[in-house]
Amino acid sequence: MISKTTIDQVYEIARVEEVIGDFVSLKKSGSNYKGLSPFSQERTPSFMVSPVKQIWKDFSSGKGGNVVAFLMEHEHFSYPEAIRYLAKKYNIELEETEQSDQEKEARSQQESMYLVAQYASDFYQDQLWDSQEGKAIGLSYFRERGFTDDTLRTFGLGYAPTNKSALTQKAQSEGYNLEFLEATGLSIINEQQGPPIDRFRERVMFPIRSMSGRVQGFGGRILSSKTKVAKYLNSPESQIYHKSKILYGIYESKKTIAKEDCCYLVEGYTDVIQMHQAGITNVVSSSGTALTVEQIRLIRRLTAQIVVLFDGDAAGLRASLRGIDLILEEGMHVKVCAFPEGEDPDSFCKSRSKEEIENYLADTAMDFIQFKASLLVSEAADDPAQKAQTIRDIVTSISKIPDAIQRELYVQRCATLLKVSEPVLFSALAQLLHQKEKPTSRRSQPEIPLQVVPKPLATPKVNRSYELERQIITLLLQYGATEVAFEETLLQKNDKGELTEISQQISAKVFEKIFLDLQQDEVEFADPRFKSLFYTLIQSYQKDGVVHPDRLLQSDDPKFNQVISDILMEDEHHQLHSWERKNIFVKTHEKEIARRVTETILSLRRHLIDQKIIELQGKTKEQTIEDGDEQLEEIKSYLHLRTLVSKKLNRVL
Ligand code: CTP
Ligand code: MN
Repeated sequence: MISKTTIDQVYEIARVEEVIGDFVSLKKSGSNYKGLSPFSQERTPSFMVSPVKQIWKDFSSGKGGNVVAFLMEHEHFSYPEAIRYLAKKYNIELEETEQSDQEKEARSQQESMYLVAQYASDFYQDQLWDSQEGKAIGLSYFRERGFTDDTLRTFGLGYAPTNKSALTQKAQSEGYNLEFLEATGLSIINEQQGPPIDRFRERVMFPIRSMSGRVQGFGGRILSSKTKVAKYLNSPESQIYHKSKILYGIYESKKTIAKEDCCYLVEGYTDVIQMHQAGITNVVSSSGTALTVEQIRLIRRLTAQIVVLFDGDAAGLRASLRGIDLILEEGMHVKVCAFPEGEDPDSFCKSRSKEEIENYLADTAMDFIQFKASLLVSEAADDPAQKAQTIRDIVTSISKIPDAIQRELYVQRCATLLKVSEPVLFSALAQLLHQKEKPTSRRSQPEIPLQVVPKPLATPKVNRSYELERQIITLLLQYGATEVAFEETLLQKNDKGELTEISQQISAKVFEKIFLDLQQDEVEFADPRFKSLFYTLIQSYQKDGVVHPDRLLQSDDPKFNQVISDILMEDEHHQLHSWERKNIFVKTHEKEIARRVTETILSLRRHLIDQKIIELQGKTKEQTIEDGDEQLEEIKSYLHLRTLVSKKLNRVL
């Protein structure tokens, strides 16, 4: 856990325009900055950053939020990753809280391991570019494979020298602890055989990076074709390297994956690299192992579309079928694409242009049903038993899809393709789904939470209270501290001692008016997020006289942050055309604010009264006559109140 102090400090110091400026080229436009949306392809800038409010809004995609939200959207960081990134950028010391000594120790051990891994990555790169051996062996190997210098740098490729302990010794001489060199698997300690040695020797090195770009481990490829030795040696499992949770190329590809809304999945390191070099930069590799759920979820943070690219050898095909089911099970869309016999993406892409490759992928990619059916055709099309098995296999895959409509569409497709009747397929599917529902099933479906809140009796088409609550928050955000003259009706005794209504101008700040009026009527917000925001705003106005919009965007609910940044940006829009700028009609403006405030409060009151009446009417139906009388009285008084409020409302409208 990062401490609240650190988080506050990060928000305090980080400037949204500076942080975004590292990724998007921004131009000053009035009090804002404008740029091309990093989330879509566009030619006219619709991406806005407000340095005053410390928020951003992308009008082309509808996304928006504060500085942290930008990093989470753009860099696909988790919340803590974003805070860490900012702390690093602004040299803010990271303070961790609620950690036992043990946790602190583990944490710092992990940090040390990351440092060592980064050091090693730099070391291998230096060796590749600057040492005699590295240049002669490593660099020439990569060049022979057709990798450009740019590509080598992008992927941070390196070279581990022949010397038994080059890295271990150099790292130690520079103060890196042997303990961490061993923990990361970079050094091997074997007491009997003397001093510690390097794990990776005489290999070209592929650093494996996390989504946020930290080096977690390495793959090292031998250069000779000695058959006895495994071609690749990888980092062992460690606190920072979990083979089942990494995807090679995720860091280098994440931007394009999100932008293109599609991810290619290949088998090897070199496939990723070669495709990148050919200009296809949304590619990751599961590094020769069977795809795992964790890896799929990593991709799902970026897109729901996966295209699996198989090497052109039949052996790999069947083995990878399970991966397809896993992808389906995660609710993602999967296509499959095989390469010609004897080719893998690396060899295929080497001699082809981006366009050629893209055309090939587009023409060859099949959905999983086509793909599985095609395996049948090639193997034993006229064997009924085989065909039945294939169909069962396909239906099993379909049964993994969480979405019922999609399942149905696939069943129809399967029926047409394999010439079987739909009802037969549906009944097979139903059986499988039924099995899945039994408690023995591996994956439990998410449970529907128990309803704690009583349901409203009449469900309006639009959520009126949400709209009104949003409107109140909007007014508070936009004009909370503005002082406006409100028309108040007061009851006063006249000379004859009779009560009469008189109206009077009372000057108040918008936030005070809203707060007092709502408090008087004991109005509670229905939406808990608006409710908590409401009190935050009121407190902030009372204490500081202002609110800091970016502070309001710290909810961990991105959807809600979206709502708030939308409101804040609406304001931005308003101001562009506002009367204030031209400095005329200020009075009219003030009147308009007062009118909107009063109207919103009254509308909310009337809405709540309506709800109350509906509720009471519902009750009278179930109750005995005596109770009913009482309730009828109550309804009457609410109806009266409603008339009063409506009258007032008509006056302001
Ligand atoms: N792999 C591994 N250990 C091995 C062989 C393979 O970890 N002994 C992993 C590597 O991640 C490799 C992937 O499986 O990238 C695919 O294997 P392969 O297709 O044989 O390797 P390529 O990446 O194609 O490597 P190259 O083109 O250099 O032969
Ligand atoms: Mn290969």
